[in-house]
Amino acid sequence: MTERIVLAYSGGLDTSVAIGWIGEATGAEVIAVAVDVGQGGESLETIRQRALGCGAVEAYVADASDEFANEYCMPTLKANGLYQGHYPLVSAISRPVIVKHLVKAAREFGATTVAHGCTGKGNDQVRFEVGIQTLGPDLKCIAPVRDLALTRDKAIAFAEEKGLPIETTKKNPYSIDQNVWGRAVETGYLEDIWNGPTKDIYDYTATPEFPPAPDEVIISFEAGVPVAIDGVKVTPLQAIKELNRRAGAQGVGRIDVVEDRLVGIKSREIYEAPGAMALITAHKHLEDITVEREQARFKATVGQRWSELVYDGQWFSPLKRSLEAFIEDTQKYVSGDIRMTLHGGQAIVNGRRSDTSLYDFNLATYDTGDTFDQSMAKGFIELWGMSAKVASGRDIRVAGQ
Ligand code: ARG
Repeated sequence: MTERIVLAYSGGLDTSVAIGWIGEATGAEVIAVAVDVGQGGESLETIRQRALGCGAVEAYVADASDEFANEYCMPTLKANGLYQGHYPLVSAISRPVIVKHLVKAAREFGATTVAHGCTGKGNDQVRFEVGIQTLGPDLKCIAPVRDLALTRDKAIAFAEEKGLPIETTKKNPYSIDQNVWGRAVETGYLEDIWNGPTKDIYDYTATPEFPPAPDEVIISFEAGVPVAIDGVKVTPLQAIKELNRRAGAQGVGRIDVVEDRLVGIKSREIYEAPGAMALITAHKHLEDITVEREQARFKATVGQRWSELVYDGQWFSPLKRSLEAFIEDTQKYVSGDIRMTLHGGQAIVNGRRSDTSLYDFNLATYDTGDTFDQSMAKGFIELWGMSAKVASGRDIRVAGQ
């Protein structure tokens, strides 16, 4: 029986050419698998037809947009997941869900190998292959761009020679990856890190310099997850989409950073994640009133470590799972409403309310009604400073000898 290979298919030039390229290099039949993670753009049926037109024996489209929102974006929100304090893990969280569907398709179609279109310089190859090793340890993995020398020029030449139904002339100098959680743009002109991004780079966000009138939004959460916007019930996917639209119109969520890739390269990245950044901001502010101080401080460290694991392709690792058990426990009381104003590139919280809040007006107030016994502070401070005071006494004594 002819060997079968499942290819992670985006519909773009490289993966379209990869169908025939893999076929010629290996003699295998190629099954193209596209996964909908809310990336928008072309219809999935168009993408499916193109894969067949490029020589795939089967083309299969998996609708994973709700699954992606529920099982990948929501854990990121609960962790306030920002790699290096900036990047909401847009591409990093989409790879494991894509892998899940690739492995499922490999089983359904009797494939022995999974292929992806990543280069040898990025994080995504690691995320794909580590994921495949974990979910389908018997499956082999190939990357035509990296392992079968499929460069861009060769891809264009191949497409023209074979008359493939794909545009080869449109010159987009950027490498773009997008889904409902955000959009990542890299390479080309952006590789000079002094160059400011030009307007044409952005798609999810309008320019924040000339914003429309301020937009006030109330986001309601239950146990760390958004459940309503302005009182209207929403699913996680709907919440992200609605905030992509509203925060995007105000230019919220543009990010320009140089980040540390897993492979040891520093790289310039432009992200736009209006919905994700508005949600993370609101969620963090709700945690500020509902999570106890020591839990909250420790959770910031846990969230950072969680983000590094996810960035580094360890979505299926035991440590990540253990950290999630902790994060999940902290979310029990993260319920309530956050009111925020979206305007001119910013999402600023200006009101919060929660039935599970730890904010105690009577303890906090400086007005009458104060229930806090201020006389307790004096002794507390004496003891709090005791250890450092004893050490400082020793330092002076030793210095004087
Ligand atoms: N640097 C980001 C990451 O590693 C984004 C990668 C985007 N991928 C792409 N093919 N443009 O998660």
